[in-house]
Amino acid sequence: MKGVILAGGNGTRLMPLTHVTNKSLLPIYDRPMIYYPLELMAEAGIEEVMIVTGGNTCGDMMRVLNDGSQFGLRNLYFTVQEKAGGISQALSLAESFASGRELFVMLGDNLIFGHNVADTVRNFAAQPVGAKVFLQPVPDPERFGIAALAEDRILSIEEKPSQPKSNLAVTGLYLYDRSVFDKIRTLKPSARGELEVTDLNRSYLDEGQLGFEMLSGEWIDAGTFDSMLEASQMAKRHADLRQTFNSNSLAVAA
Ligand code: DAU
Repeated sequence: MKGVILAGGNGTRLMPLTHVTNKSLLPIYDRPMIYYPLELMAEAGIEEVMIVTGGNTCGDMMRVLNDGSQFGLRNLYFTVQEKAGGISQALSLAESFASGRELFVMLGDNLIFGHNVADTVRNFAAQPVGAKVFLQPVPDPERFGIAALAEDRILSIEEKPSQPKSNLAVTGLYLYDRSVFDKIRTLKPSARGELEVTDLNRSYLDEGQLGFEMLSGEWIDAGTFDSMLEASQMAKRHADLRQTFNSNSLAVAA
């Protein structure tokens, strides 16, 4: 399985912070935002990752991430999305990188703490059929892709609905089989002129091929000023917890 992190787009909601740099390079507590999805991918056992970045920030991204070896990756690749054509359009740029393999895709502004996705990723890689999304309840469903469930399956999925059918956000982590690029080719631009990830997920749903898992840890989309601040506080809390755990483990071992 290969990994793709989508860090294109204009970051308009974070202007003027994103005037001269990519949203995913902005700081979240003690590191650039994109470190979090990249570390999560490495922890899930992904060895080859492609970053899709915006045209004028590609150089910065490469300087920050280098060859990816500091994350334990075997290879890190970069490609450029010239114009913000939507999440599915950004993903389409990774087709030759994927070369027929299944993909673990993450949005560059999504952070997850306390939920280990490694087993799910491994199981999907062993039987890569269809797609899988990760859901979490949110207080503000109008901001996200929202899934409505009937017992153990997804009934519908809508992008930023004004009258949400549930409070279950589709988070920015996705597992896709090799048919993903054929499906992207069938998508039409939405009212805002983008190839939407929700339409891509819906095309799996229409074929009865969209699975889901509930996220049990903390998740945040750091794409607004308030959520960036909250993400930093969340990251610090988890860093402190890890440190306490490590020093307790050392004390027990001594
Ligand atoms: O965070 C989860 C949500 O992310 C999902 O619930 C929504 O279904 C999904 O559409 C997305 O919503 P956002 O409004 O948060 O998407 P945004 O435009 O902020 O894009 C998220 C990331 O995707 C962004 O940080 C970089 C990447 N992206 C986005 C666009 C529009 C690209 O690489 N290229 C693009 O053209």
